[in-house]
This record gives sequence, structure tokens and C-alpha cells, in this order.
Amino acid sequence: MSLIALGVTGGIGAYKAVEVCRGLQIHGHDVVAVMTRSAARFVGPLTFEAITRRAVITSQWKFGMNADIEHVAIADAIALLLVAPCTANVIGKFAHGIADDFLTSLYLATRAPVLLAPSMNSNMLVHDAVQRNLHTLAARGVRCVEPGDGYLACGWIGKGRLAEPAEIVAAAVAMLAPVDSALSGRRVVVTAGPTYEDIDPVRYLGNRSSGRMGFAIAAEAQRRGARVTLVAGPTGLEPPAAEEIVRVRSAAEMHTAVMRAAARADVVIMAAAVADYTPADPASRKVAKTDGPMTLTLRRTPDILADLARLPSRLSSGVPILVGFAAETDDAEARGREKRARKGIDLIVVNDVSRSDAGFEVATNAVTLIDAEGECAVPLQSKERVAAAILDRVEWFVRARTAPPVRA
Ligand code: C5P
Repeated sequence: MSLIALGVTGGIGAYKAVEVCRGLQIHGHDVVAVMTRSAARFVGPLTFEAITRRAVITSQWKFGMNADIEHVAIADAIALLLVAPCTANVIGKFAHGIADDFLTSLYLATRAPVLLAPSMNSNMLVHDAVQRNLHTLAARGVRCVEPGDGYLACGWIGKGRLAEPAEIVAAAVAMLAPVDSALSGRRVVVTAGPTYEDIDPVRYLGNRSSGRMGFAIAAEAQRRGARVTLVAGPTGLEPPAAEEIVRVRSAAEMHTAVMRAAARADVVIMAAAVADYTPADPASRKVAKTDGPMTLTLRRTPDILADLARLPSRLSSGVPILVGFAAETDDAEARGREKRARKGIDLIVVNDVSRSDAGFEVATNAVTLIDAEGECAVPLQSKERVAAAILDRVEWFVRARTAPPVRA
């Protein structure tokens, strides 16, 4: 049984949220209702209180509400945030990070998956502003139950009607279902982010990796029941929950952390953008500038993937399964193929980073997966969904190569 926050916003379909609530309970889930001010004009909070047998949250400003920072407490406790119906107004606030009431603050505070059931007039639904906001949210991994066609409250016939409660409940239940995954119980090491190579105490060589792709893979692996060790380079993003999080700075530190974790891993996924070169002789004091040019001597960093490929267990039984990334601007696929063979790894995820909508610093990605069996293009979508496509392929390797996990 999971706790679901059911956000109810001010659409005419708000009364259908009662049926959604019942449906979730029938599937064994516990529901806490969070109503916006306008939702309370359509349905009485008492209705939800009676059904959920919990206090209904209607305001951030009720006495007692801030004693334990309620939106943070609920944000941590819920397994899903479902908003049905979800108005254009709330979609816009979620997309832009506006947190001016309990529901919109909860959206920002929770790490639980989010499912929206939009409901509005057809012209509003197709408006560029709403469509852009929905795309922004989809790129963040927010899922939607498509609104249906039919008679709208405004008298129009068109698309925008809240999906049927049964459909909304089915989508929510599917998102909560424990996944039957080959990764369940497996030890998976994921690297994420850039590395910083120090020149002196104030300067470093870095790169544009945000860590988002690696974090999405770690979160998805965790969702599939894997025991995840996340090795993260310096990034401003909050990492997802994982069994172990190791923070590193340089390629050398990442090498040490990954080799240690890989000793008992079933899979290692190197999504980090590891520096290939590091200053040969970093200065211990700040290097003073001069008028002339500066010459830095760089030396190669250890190739972590190549070292993993030489591990005894890898050579004898092909474990850990190794996944690398190739961020390329030219001849991406050909270089990816060459890199996979040269490094002796199983799967390479090729990223054309010359595109503005894929690769570094954006929420979306488009990749090609290349292994010994062939190639598969994963079209532009949120990094969360790309992570799922990568792990689907990793599961194929796990099934083929490893014995069932030993649970410790
Ligand atoms: O060698 P190159 O940087 O082109 O390959 C990229 C892949 O190799 C990525 O998966 C990256 O994490 C990994 N890598 C590594 N050790 C390095 C550099 C890159 O494992 N020193």
C-alpha cells in the first residue's frame, strides 16, 4: 500500500476526483487530498475528508500546518503525486516553479513521480502557452492522462474533458506497481556529472556535464529494485536517493571510487563525462598571471572503463556488464562503434552533443544504443525516459549473463 497525494484543482471535473480517490483506495492505496482554493468551490473538502479519513489540506496557512513543515513531510511520505483534474493554471505554475499554495509547493518539494489529468476548454488545451508548459513538464518526466473528447462544461464539444476516473486510476496504479525487473537486487554502479581537474587552488579544467542523465539512470535503476551506488562528480543538481552516494571531484578520485564499487557490481554504467586529461603538475599556490601566454602540460587520466574491462571477473565471466557513453559532435555513431570495441565494453550510448536539445545541460536527450547485436535509435525525449530505454537494454544483458542475485 502506498500513500498518494491527490491534488484537486478548480475544474468542473473536480467532482470526479471523488471517484478517483475511491478507485485508488480499492487498489489498496492510502490517499491524502490536497485541494486548491478554487477546487473547494466545486467540491466540499468534507467529502474528501470523509472518504480519505484524513484531514484534507486546503491551505498552507492553517494553524499547525507549519509546525512540522507539512509540505516537506508529505513530500517525503508520498509514492505518487496525482493531480486530477489539473487546470491550465496549475500546469503553468508547475512548469514555471511557482509555489504559491500547498499543492504547488508540494510539487517542488517531492521526489515522487507526478501524474496529471488535465482538464480544460479545448481552446485552452491547444493554446501554445499550455502546450509548451505540458512539454516542459513531460521533459521533466511528469506523466499525463490524456483528456478525452466530448461535451465540455462550457457547452463545447471537443478535447479537454477530464479522462474517465477508471483510466486515471489505472494510470496511477501502473506507475506504482512494483516492477518485475532483472535489475531487482542487482548491484549497479552509476557515474554522473563532470570531473574537475585542478590547475591550482582556484582554477580547474571541467566540462559542461550537469549529471542529469546519470542521475536519471540511477533513479530508474533504484525504481527497478537495483542496489545503486552513485558516484557523482561536482554538480549543482540534487542527486536522487541511492543505497550509496560517493562524491568525487577529479578523474583520479572517480577511478578509485568506481574500481572499489565495481568489485561486487553486476553492472557499471559510466554516464559521467570524465576528463581525459589533467594538469601534469597542479600548483599548490595560486598561479599569478603574466602578460604572455600560459602553457599547461596535461597528462592522460586513467581510462576507468578500460580498467574495468580488464578486471579478472570481467575477463572470466563478463561481469560486471559495462556501459559507456560517447558524447560526440561529428560522426557520432561511427565513433561510438569504434569506442565500444576499443574499450571492450558491452553497450555504448552515443550522444550527438552538437544538438541544442540533447546532451549537456538540457532535460531531454536523443541517443543511439550500440552493442554487439546491433543499434537502436532512442528518439528525443526526457532523460528519465531515455534512462528507461538504456536500462531495458541493460536488463537484456543481465538476463543473458548473470546468475540470480544473492540477497545480503
Ligand atoms: O574515452 P571517452 O571519453 O571518449 O569515452 C567516454 C566514456 O568513457 C564515458 O562512458 C566515460 O564515462 C568513460 N571514461 C572513462 N575514463 C576516462 C574517460 C572516459 O571511463 N578517463
